[in-house]
Amino acid sequence: MKGGQKAKSVKLTTTGIQILILVVTSAGDGIDYDHADWANAKFDVTGPMPEAIDAPVEEKVILTPRPGPAPKLNNPLVFGTRPGNPFIYRIPATGTRPMTFAVEGLPKTLKLDPASGILTGTSPDTRGEYAMVFKAGNASGQDERPFKLVVGDTLALTPPMGWNSWYIHYNRVTDAGMREAADAMVASGMADYGYMYVNIDDCWSKKRKDEPYRDNCGGILTNEKFPDMKGLTDYIHSKGLRAGIYTSPGPWTCAGYMSTLGYEQLDAQRFAEWGFDFLKYDWCTYEISDEKALHDYMKPYALMGEILKNLKRDMVYNLCQYGMGNVWEWGAKVEAQTWRTMGDVGFMSFLDAGLENCQYAAYAGPGRWNDPDYILIGWVGDARKMGEGAPVNLTPNQYYQYMSLWTMMASPLFFSGDMTRLDDFTLNVLCNAEIIGVNQDILGRQGVIVTQTEDYFVITKPLADGSIAAGVFNTSVVEQSVRVSWKELGLKGRQSVRDLWRQQDLGTHKNSIDVKLPLHGVVMLRLSSAK
Ligand code: GLA
Repeated sequence: MKGGQKAKSVKLTTTGIQILILVVTSAGDGIDYDHADWANAKFDVTGPMPEAIDAPVEEKVILTPRPGPAPKLNNPLVFGTRPGNPFIYRIPATGTRPMTFAVEGLPKTLKLDPASGILTGTSPDTRGEYAMVFKAGNASGQDERPFKLVVGDTLALTPPMGWNSWYIHYNRVTDAGMREAADAMVASGMADYGYMYVNIDDCWSKKRKDEPYRDNCGGILTNEKFPDMKGLTDYIHSKGLRAGIYTSPGPWTCAGYMSTLGYEQLDAQRFAEWGFDFLKYDWCTYEISDEKALHDYMKPYALMGEILKNLKRDMVYNLCQYGMGNVWEWGAKVEAQTWRTMGDVGFMSFLDAGLENCQYAAYAGPGRWNDPDYILIGWVGDARKMGEGAPVNLTPNQYYQYMSLWTMMASPLFFSGDMTRLDDFTLNVLCNAEIIGVNQDILGRQGVIVTQTEDYFVITKPLADGSIAAGVFNTSVVEQSVRVSWKELGLKGRQSVRDLWRQQDLGTHKNSIDVKLPLHGVVMLRLSSAK
């Protein structure tokens, strides 16, 4: 109902009902202004009075076993780069340090630091596939894993992973905050699972009215919180991580800071000289004619895409224009690797965002990813107030749903909460190698919803080795048991089933499997044909 409407009487036969739950859900148009006024609602009761019960408490249960002391390599099997460009890559591996790394088949243009596992140098000049084997050893054992460097035109052969400053720092972002995040990415172990981009969002350039915005040559100036951009990216690179920056094709960024209009080439070049490896290009104040023709939407993005492609530096290109003009249909044409498919996730529920993003599955693939925005778990600042960090308003099981859904959608995995307040639980949700493995699978298919009822939905994602991942998400208000059939998953015959969050084999099953879903819960499975 809408405000001002006349009261409606609702009659519900409660005979035989043992538990009655009154729920307020999203009206399907975002969560703004969704609330319930129960007004004078009452139950007329005959017989014994109903008893009010508390909602079940969800404990922060760590499902994933901690990695052992022996090395375990977690790199994606492929990685794209353009020929002859600066290259930096930290081989992701868990296990006790010190650890010694080696690489078989390392191209001559690259150098390995055996103690840190950081590769530096330039990518080979000649296009082609460079097959390598990463090796890691320590006192407890060793591991090896193939890695194929694909030198060509396509970046982000698997979804990019990292952290972005927006939802925790907003306009408070500083050089020190970025360095701290880079430190934490390594210290927390996130980098050992493949998180690699450390990205500044809005608010690093000069604010409107704080002139001059540019130097005498037109070069964009930073504000006082970023005294030395090159120094900052050097620092991030020294850890084997990559750095990202943000601007808008309009005159001002969304938060009212200087941006790029009319200086596209100059700014992109400066970003490259500063050493940035990722650009988020946010529509914000860009203006087009009322016609709003498709080419109007594409124009600013095509312009920057062409510039980035020709820079002597790999810069992953992330479009942010909230899905206008069906960006998923043309993002790849303007040389982007990822594009936001809708508005800011900070203003909606992650489930609404995810379910919306699921519609565009057909457009995703290696080097072209639908971006439903960041992973907001742990400590996050309220988007409406650009607030200071606080524990996000999600239950522990919703943390698992959030990460599972982003994984299944082959979404870029960007955490945007506080890197310095990562508790064990949050970290465990962000860092399960088998879950991330589904996201980083080299087939690069986005999962599709195969079953959706009022109470749950099932997404499946085919994987490169012929197995499939299946996620079963509880959207009801109670715990439930769900039978998932091979028919709905498109499978036949006996299947070996693995529980990915627990990293446990569940044995072989015929025709179907029953899964238990706690309130807000999810089960993530990998199914492969049992020979
Ligand atoms: C827009 C974007 C957000 C963030 C802010 C910064 O709202 O969608 O992701 O970058 O701008 O002002």
